[in-house]
Amino acid sequence: MVPAESQGAEVAGILERHPRRPGELLAILLDLQESYHYLPRAALKEVAQYLAVPESRVYSVATFYKALTLKPRGERVIRTCLGTACHLRGSPAVLERLEEVLGIKPGETTPDGRFTLETVNCLGACALAPVVVIGDDTYGQMTPDKVEKLLREL
Ligand code: FES
Repeated sequence: MVPAESQGAEVAGILERHPRRPGELLAILLDLQESYHYLPRAALKEVAQYLAVPESRVYSVATFYKALTLKPRGERVIRTCLGTACHLRGSPAVLERLEEVLGIKPGETTPDGRFTLETVNCLGACALAPVVVIGDDTYGQMTPDKVEKLLREL
């Protein structure tokens, strides 16, 4: 996670890349999300001031889009599919192993900020069930042992 003092500088850098127009709000939030993996509250305040829009508006956009989150996230998000096809082929056991190895439950982030664990209800890759997505990479036919090995290699 980014230390508070460098956070200010980085937010300013992101803001400078965007014209001061309310229409830039979503683009700015997406940039912040990409840098921090979530939207720090202090940054949202700065965005509101920069664009001269009410903070409530910034929050409503920040909470509307699924790609944006106010909760701190790890550098890599691990999404385990619990949809029907994956469930039938053993994804609950894969998830259980992930929880054991990472020491966290779905919706949580490891204390070192490396990983966030999430569950989803179908990743659209049912033929590869059970599926786990780590960052932008999709891994199919996962087993508890395979997923543990994969994690240790990251
Ligand atoms: S049910 Fe898991 S990818 Fe569709």
